[in-house]
Amino acid sequence: MGKSAFSCVFFLWIFCQVHNTVQQSTPSDPFYIASVVEFAPFAIGADKTDINEQLEGIRTVIQDPNAEKSDIVVFPEGALNTDGLTYVPEPKDQTIPCEELDYHYSLSELSCYARSIQAYLVANVHEKVLCSGDYQCPKKGYFVFNTNVVFDRNGMVISKYRKTHLYRNEIYKKFTPREPQIQTFTTDFGVTFGQFICFDILFHWPTQSLVHEGISDFVNPNAWFQELPFLTSLQLFQGWSQANNVSLLSAGLSNPVTGNSGSGIFSRSFGSLAFSITSIPERKIYTAKVPKKNSSYVPKITSKPKSPTQKPNSPFIIKKNVKEILTKRDYNLDLFTTFLLDPIEDNFNKTMCHGDLCCDFSVTQTLKQIKTDIKFINNLYIGYQYRFVIYSGPGTFQRMEKSEIGVCALVACTTRDLSSCGNRSNFPRERIFLKEQLYFTNITIKAEYRKRFHMLVMPMTVNSDLETLPTDSYTFEKDDNIYKMSLRKSKMDILTFGLYGNYFVEKRVKHNIRDGEL
Ligand SMILES: *[C@@H]1O[C@H](CO)[C@@H](O)[C@H](O)[C@H]1NC(C)=O
Ligand SMILES: *[C@@H]1O[C@H](CO)[C@@H](O)[C@H](O)[C@H]1NC(C)=O
Ligand SMILES: *[C@@H]1O[C@H](CO)[C@@H](O)[C@H](O)[C@H]1NC(C)=O
Ligand SMILES: *[C@@H]1O[C@H](CO)[C@@H](O)[C@H](O)[C@H]1NC(C)=O
Ligand SMILES: *[C@@H]1O[C@H](CO)[C@@H](O)[C@H](O)[C@H]1NC(C)=O
Repeated sequence: MGKSAFSCVFFLWIFCQVHNTVQQSTPSDPFYIASVVEFAPFAIGADKTDINEQLEGIRTVIQDPNAEKSDIVVFPEGALNTDGLTYVPEPKDQTIPCEELDYHYSLSELSCYARSIQAYLVANVHEKVLCSGDYQCPKKGYFVFNTNVVFDRNGMVISKYRKTHLYRNEIYKKFTPREPQIQTFTTDFGVTFGQFICFDILFHWPTQSLVHEGISDFVNPNAWFQELPFLTSLQLFQGWSQANNVSLLSAGLSNPVTGNSGSGIFSRSFGSLAFSITSIPERKIYTAKVPKKNSSYVPKITSKPKSPTQKPNSPFIIKKNVKEILTKRDYNLDLFTTFLLDPIEDNFNKTMCHGDLCCDFSVTQTLKQIKTDIKFINNLYIGYQYRFVIYSGPGTFQRMEKSEIGVCALVACTTRDLSSCGNRSNFPRERIFLKEQLYFTNITIKAEYRKRFHMLVMPMTVNSDLETLPTDSYTFEKDDNIYKMSLRKSKMDILTFGLYGNYFVEKRVKHNIRDGEL
């Protein structure tokens, strides 16, 4: 009997070796394995999107070994084009579209992909909902929503979320705005995820309210538009995750010519565990072990891969060509109170106030091995110029929605004019060389915010590759309503370093659309 029990266990063991190649995290594991996919909507060289080709691209990513070993894989907003309008089953109906074929075939394909790798899959689709009888129903007879669909390991639809805060092109394309919905899903590895989509990250409902409910992990399919100095993709994702002390899986659409790029896995004060922002459209998976909320697991931060063109001892740092990523400028800046740092000085202490916000700035900078006489060409300083900027009051988010913000930061400008702050440099080589020689040995920013009912103050860092500073290179502390950020290691090549407070004031705007027009 003992022997037969042994052979049975042995047989099971063999069975597992053969069949269970997929490792899945369990509730007792200290981490789970997550992947986000930076995904180009166009095939290389194509000028049109084609949903068959996009599905083929997704299928290729799904077959990557990193996808197979993941517990959850997140694809970006807009990875499938709008030909694929689909009904989406209600989670309560426990539908597996891989088997129930009452939906657009793209939804069935996605469901099958999830089941084939036995992973949770988060995809973003254009959802069709019949609406005759609803007074807001468009003439065509259905609403169109920008919707996340979550499939479980069996391909079953377990959750969906409709984007609340639409962006410009979606409003003009007559997507239906949503009342905020709270949508979470709980996984078999013991983590409950909150969901939001792209622009939603800047608003209290529903995004920030999920944090207040204690949700510690988020998925964010997005197609972010870059804006300097404060709202490029990675700086916002890292700042949001760090300020809220939560983990964020952000999968970004890769369409650099319109400004869309930036994917990453961010975890609390650990910062980015994996990330990408690139001017070359890509379809690539980024994978990391994400610590669970209560675990003491310390993630391994994979250091940034060195770009092959970068010679270690070259005086010229050859940048990735991030210029190809369209970045817009934040025109709120022109209302800010600012102070220009003279590049010849080496340290500055300054207290500045605007509205109800006061900040202490202190900066030490060093120009390495540069003779004074080559710092200027035709009286023009060669390199970025920096300003302290401070503001508290009304503004806009990317001229899309009204905002109220409180900002204290050091920002890079291409000339002495405030109007050049938020512009990226087109410096010739010698200017780039010089820029690289300006080190900040210390930046400390301390801000006292007035207490507000809703407020999120985020640490914002970005360099000229549009990447964030690693979180171990700066400190971010909050003591009641006093926030402090300080550089811990000398850094050059900073575009933004500072605090960005969102006061979460939502005011309706008409977006050039009048009642009854849709
Ligand atoms: C952040 O969250 C972790 C648990 O997820 C907790 O241990 C830590 O104390 C939190 N940090 C702050 C500053 O609240
Ligand atoms: C984390 O710990 C808190 C307090 O001990 C507990 O209430 C919560 O359920 C735990 N969360 C998870 C995800 O284990
Ligand atoms: C700024 O403060 C630091 C430390 O308090 C001091 O060493 C430095 O001299 C001050 N710089 C100026 C320009 O006042
Ligand atoms: C900012 O950049 C734009 C686009 O490169 C350029 O046209 C404009 O002149 C720049 N503004 C300043 C003040 O440098
Ligand atoms: C930077 O300055 C702050 C405030 O003066 C100080 O607390 C901190 O230790 C300094 N950091 C470094 C790396 O010198």
